[in-house]
Amino acid sequence: SRQDFIRNFSIIAHIDHGKSTLADRMIEMTGMLTQREMQSQVLDSMELEKERGITIKLKAVRLIYKAEDGNEYTFNLIDTPGHVDFNYEVSRSLAACEGAIVVVDASQGVEAQTLANVYLALDQDLELLPVLNKIDLPSARVDEVKQEIEDIIGLDTEGAPLISAKKGIGIDAVFEKIVEVIPPPRGDESKPLKALIFDSYYDAYKGVICYVRIEDGQVKPGDEIHMVNTQKTFEVVEVGVVTSAHMPLDKLRAGDVGYITASIKNVRDATVGDTITGAKIRTESPFAGYKKAMPMVYCGIYPGEGEEYTEVRDALEKLQVNDAALDFEAETSVALGFGFRCGFLGLLHMEIIQERLEREFDLNIVTTSPSVIYRVTTNAGQVLEIQNPSNLPNPSEIAKIEEPIVRAEIMTPTDYVGAIMDLCQNRRGTFIDMTYLEETRALIKYDLPLNEVIYDFFDALKSKTRGYASYDYELIGYRESDLVKLDILINSNVVDAFSIIVHESTAYAKGRRICEKLTDVIPRHQFAVPIQAAVAGKIIARETIRALRKDVLSKCYGGDITRKRKLLEKQKEGKKRMRMVGEVEVPQEAFLAVLKYD
Ligand code: GTP
Repeated sequence: SRQDFIRNFSIIAHIDHGKSTLADRMIEMTGMLTQREMQSQVLDSMELEKERGITIKLKAVRLIYKAEDGNEYTFNLIDTPGHVDFNYEVSRSLAACEGAIVVVDASQGVEAQTLANVYLALDQDLELLPVLNKIDLPSARVDEVKQEIEDIIGLDTEGAPLISAKKGIGIDAVFEKIVEVIPPPRGDESKPLKALIFDSYYDAYKGVICYVRIEDGQVKPGDEIHMVNTQKTFEVVEVGVVTSAHMPLDKLRAGDVGYITASIKNVRDATVGDTITGAKIRTESPFAGYKKAMPMVYCGIYPGEGEEYTEVRDALEKLQVNDAALDFEAETSVALGFGFRCGFLGLLHMEIIQERLEREFDLNIVTTSPSVIYRVTTNAGQVLEIQNPSNLPNPSEIAKIEEPIVRAEIMTPTDYVGAIMDLCQNRRGTFIDMTYLEETRALIKYDLPLNEVIYDFFDALKSKTRGYASYDYELIGYRESDLVKLDILINSNVVDAFSIIVHESTAYAKGRRICEKLTDVIPRHQFAVPIQAAVAGKIIARETIRALRKDVLSKCYGGDITRKRKLLEKQKEGKKRMRMVGEVEVPQEAFLAVLKYD
């Protein structure tokens, strides 16, 4: 049948093992795009994404491959994001496939994300095709890494393609293996429409573009479609596939991967994981596993000096049209005035949004330190979800506080096991177990409070292991903990935007460190500025920023006007990313310094 000549697959890999390079090479070798076109398009189309060198939004491309058996095959290559913040999207894109290529760097071997992604693929019952990449490197250890793949992942590596994605070596073998190993789709065209949305984004001209895998049935322009989970109904405007651009077709059928547009105004109405079916004749078995995007990390976003609240709101609204995971609501801070509490999938997502606000919308914003969601049970038995530390009830009203816990899996050369255990122990981790994958490599499992890993755990891990360890984590639940609110006072006033929730045992050390750090980043003033840390109203640490010795302008009285103006301008520039908090100028970096360990 028609579907015998379709292959739907993803490429999964640990970061930097060559996923994007292989995808580009496959696109190029099937003649879909010229190299120059490729540079500006396709799998890494967002500018930010390119600069960060990671793939944050997944997409699909259709390739036509003429196989050695003489048949022409349609390959739908579905790209997956490469970061744990976007794991849900990874799982949905895998759900749209029958198989996945597992790319392993032949010099690095199997890493934590290789394994995490393999688990996600196995959850979807995908056929896995191991590929060893970077065989051109002198440090490639093909036989050892093959053995690792067999031992750790349990995949047969006999006949696994040995390739260099960069140099274009062995790519044909990958194509042939896809035909041979990955099963074709087996949908039923005569059944009611059942399509999985594995990605969606907002386009200014066409409205939301839904990337879909058609499981059963068919869909064409003019059809009425229904979103099973969001319960919205739309009329299809266009369907098609992505080759070098969007290519409209007259219909999409069972087994196909392509896109649907239907004048949808907001990605919230066509969210990743939802099932599209017919408005009149509905599927009886929508896709399982739909999850609403749930923010895990919150921070305050406030207009910076000279910036308008309404401008920030308009920008956030625009971003939200294209980002179903971005959550925000108005909040007020005593220190910072009117602003927003924003929810993100994780720290990377948060940084991306901050950068887009600054770059695309040219806004000067102040962000407060990120916080996870705490679950507070009051003495009255009420359960509150606290996203903003300054909203924590009085200690006397709290029966218990619970915090989110993640299970982290860390892969490391055995030399660093001690250092990693120290690190996890310092971050209030609970050891779960350790297994030796090989003589020289171990897999360590720890349960850690999310609030101890979100900020800089990854950096700390990398620096303690000289870059050799890799890790991945998933949320496993909530756990009761002795947590307190640490307040920071500047010039004797509590600055609510600085409040954080910390473990009781670390409050003193953290309070002291924050005071020291703030002394470094807050500039001197005409007067001495006391910086204090307090828990439940009790001061536990104190530093003082000494007063400026001389007014910067006092040098130039006597009237050198140009010099005076230059100095003023210089001061203004330095102020750009400052906020006045009471009488004190506080630079943006101070708000983030709060969570940094050293
Ligand atoms: P993310 O998109 O960040 O997840 O990474 P990725 O897995 O897509 O890796 P990417 O394709 O960006 O490659 C990472 C680095 O490895 C780049 O500098 C590539 O040029 C390089 N690279 C990829 N394939 C090969 C190869 O076959 N040989 C060599 N020597 N380098 C390669």
